[in-house]
This record gives sequence, C-alpha cells and structure tokens, in this order.
Amino acid sequence: MTILVTGASGNAGGAVVASLAAEGLAGRALVRKPMELPAGIEPVYGDLNQPDTFADSLAGVTGLFLLSGYDRVDELLAKAVQAGVRRVAVLSSSSVVGKSTDNAVAAYHLATEAAVIASGLEWTFLRPNTFMSNTLRWLDQLRAGDVVRVQFPDVPISTIHPRDIADVAVRALTGDGHSGTAYRLSGPVALKPAEQLEIVGQALGRTLVARELSRAESHEELFASMPATYASAIEGFFADGNVDETTVTDAVETVTGHPPRTLQEWVRENTGLFW
Ligand SMILES: NC(=O)c1ccc[n+]([C@@H]2O[C@H](COP(=O)([O-])OP(=O)(O)OC[C@H]3O[C@@H](n4cnc5c(N)ncnc54)[C@H](OP(=O)(O)O)[C@@H]3O)[C@@H](O)[C@H]2O)c1
Repeated sequence: MTILVTGASGNAGGAVVASLAAEGLAGRALVRKPMELPAGIEPVYGDLNQPDTFADSLAGVTGLFLLSGYDRVDELLAKAVQAGVRRVAVLSSSSVVGKSTDNAVAAYHLATEAAVIASGLEWTFLRPNTFMSNTLRWLDQLRAGDVVRVQFPDVPISTIHPRDIADVAVRALTGDGHSGTAYRLSGPVALKPAEQLEIVGQALGRTLVARELSRAESHEELFASMPATYASAIEGFFADGNVDETTVTDAVETVTGHPPRTLQEWVRENTGLFW
C-alpha cells in the first residue's frame, strides 16, 4: 500500500505524511522543493497544476490524498486511474455543505468533488472546519505585542487539529468502509476567538487581550488581506452564517478511534513557531 500525498509541505499534507510515518506506512510526498521527510516517505517533485510533472510517480500508488482547487484535476484523476490508483481522499471543506456555488471557496471545493466522483475512483471527502493552524494568522500581532485584533468575535468555531484530518485520511485510504462517504470533521469544542487567544496565551505564559472587531472592521481587514471573491466568501461564512463550524461532530473519533485533539495540544506542539 503506497499513498501519494499532495501539499506535503503544508499543514494538512504535512500531517498526512506524519500520520503515515507514525503507522509505518509507505508514502510519496509531492513537494516543489527539497524538504526533510520521515523514514519511509519518498519525495516526488512536481506541480499540482501540471499533472504531467509528476504522473510517472503515480505508478504503484494505491491511494491519493488530494488538495482541492487546482487546475487540470480531471487530467490528474485520469492519470491516476490509468496508473492503477484505487482510492482518493479529497481535502474539501465545511463550506460545501450548503452546495452554494455563489461562494468562491465552496465553488472550488465542489468542482473538485464533482471531478473526483466522475473519475470512477473510490472516494472519501474530508470536509473539515477551520484548522487550528490558522491560529498562526495572529503571529505578526503576537510578535508585536499582547493585543490581538480578532475578526468575527461572536462566532464560536470547533477548529480542528490538522493531524486529526490526516488520521481520518489515512483510515479512508488504507481501510475499508469509507468509500462514497463525506465526513464533516470538527475539533472537540467550539471556542470564540477570544477563548482561542486565551489558550494561546496560557501556553506562551502571556496575558493576551482580544480586541474584538466590529463587522465593518472585520470586513475592511479581510478585503485588505486577500482577493475580494475569497474575502467575500469568508465574510459570508462567519458574518452571515453560511457555514456551521460551531457544531462538534463525532466523525474524527468514529473513524480513528481517538477523540479529536485539543487546541491546547496544537499550541503546545507549535509553541516554537510563536517566537
Ligand atoms: N486552513 C483552513 O482552515 C482550511 C479549512 C478547510 C479546508 N482547507 C483546505 O485545505 C487546504 C490546505 O490547507 P493548508 O493549511 O494545509 O495549506 P498550506 O499549509 O498553505 O499548504 C498548501 C500546500 O499546497 C502546496 N502547493 C500549493 N500550490 C501547489 C502547486 N501548484 N503544486 C504543488 N503543491 C502546491 C504547498 O506547497 P509549497 O510549500 O511548495 O508552497 C503546500 O504544501 C486549503 O488550500 C483549503 O483548500 C483549509
């Protein structure tokens, strides 16, 4: 059994690499530049938008961990079928649940999911909430002082540890009973941004203060930080309630047999990144 992991240098793909290595499973990591990988994981160099750059390394692969939203996904999936790949676990998102293609984020995930269904591969869709690693969006502010501006302060989110997404992906790609299933994945508890910040402060031994932004202030910051279509999508999620990332689901525990990891664990594991 060999799994090809796309996005292997990122939060989610890197966690899949770690989960494979922890279970002693063989893997290939699609990367764009050399990086340190655990024993048993081989690098594959290529561009996800150009499937021909790494199609050769699909030979012998049984399962694919696929990031969503890249160009020419139909071509990649056809090459995977041709190479004998059987399964794909797609990193989709909570946003697809309403099936609204008006929303730019939901639209790209829905398009990838549709291509995967059409490919004929055995599929599992992972539809996670916001990742705990997004806490790093506060990094610049934390380096500058103890006051952190937080957007959409009234919305509690059950953020998820990337490693829990990874553990579900590995089960889906290596075990039976997950084909044709879409998992809504959450962390263990819904927390407002100020509560998340308090947990970060406790781990860092600092008293951090959340400066809660109004909707207008959140809007201004969001649109200044990313293209308007994505800013509008995110505003729709959290200001207009187009996604439910508050509800805690039992999917991580049901699939992996362990409870979802806490934000406290994620911060402890990543304390070094905050300095
Ligand atoms: N963050 C969230 O809260 C959240 C929630 C739900 C769903 N998601 C989905 O999860 C995805 C991954 O999130 P993440 O936090 O793991 O992202 P990330 O840390 O930014 O990682 C993105 C990965 O994709 C790789 N990549 C980007 N363009 C590529 C290309 N053209 N060819 C090959 N590799 C390429 C990057 O490689 P390099 O290191 O070479 O740049 C990196 O390994 C998001 O894009 C989103 O679709 C995220």
